[in-house]
Amino acid sequence: MTFRVDVLTLFPGLIEHYASDTILARAAQRGVWELHTHDLRDATDDAHRTVDDTPFGGGAGMVLRAEPIVRTVEAIANLPRPLIAVTPSGTPFTQTTARRLAQGSGFSLLCGRYEGFDQRALDLVVDDEVSLGDFVLAGGELAALCITEAVVRLLPGALGNDSSVEEESFSEGLLEYPHYTKPAEFRGLVVPDVLRSGDHGKVERWRRAQALRRTKERRPDLFAQHVLTKEDEKALREFPGDEVQNEG
Ligand code: ADE
Repeated sequence: MTFRVDVLTLFPGLIEHYASDTILARAAQRGVWELHTHDLRDATDDAHRTVDDTPFGGGAGMVLRAEPIVRTVEAIANLPRPLIAVTPSGTPFTQTTARRLAQGSGFSLLCGRYEGFDQRALDLVVDDEVSLGDFVLAGGELAALCITEAVVRLLPGALGNDSSVEEESFSEGLLEYPHYTKPAEFRGLVVPDVLRSGDHGKVERWRRAQALRRTKERRPDLFAQHVLTKEDEKALREFPGDEVQNEG
């Protein structure tokens, strides 16, 4: 069965445009997944196709009305679940979330604009609320595209080569080591000798040490959760730099 992603939005064109190129388009052509977009305005019946209204209790901004959302959901045959609202008030979306969604047969995303959704739409038809991070976008479309791409690239057959995904899960919880390609020298900067040594074990240990150091430096929160293995300690001893110690 083809993996199915449905996006409920006021701007279906934005979603379709991004999905019509690069990996998302190639994966769809290969039959790995299919995209269905739904315009929330199609579920309104006033002349102005109004989707928003002022908040009860007062305050700035407009609220996305419950009715167009609920009617849109009810009109879709076989809407893939979970239906996830993208909102800065949701739980953080991570690679773990992406992997979990990729295990299923599809999911749906509800995009907002304005200040937020009428809570009753969330209560009635939405399964989950997810945020991309601690910042506020003008609408959920970019967040929905990020989530879709993060999941679809994990589906079997989506990338030309599944080993890059495997390598990522191997280094799970750590930042990536630095990468280099030809030429060996560029503007006076030289590729580290070890990467040209042909010693694969040594290359692997160097990369591991780099990943650990970077994570400690840039993401102490992730590093605190990482349990250093014997191999990690060996790599760090072989390629000494700043002291790396996990107080956890
Ligand atoms: N919509 C607006 N801001 C968002 C965010 N940070 N994550 C998910 N959806 C959003």
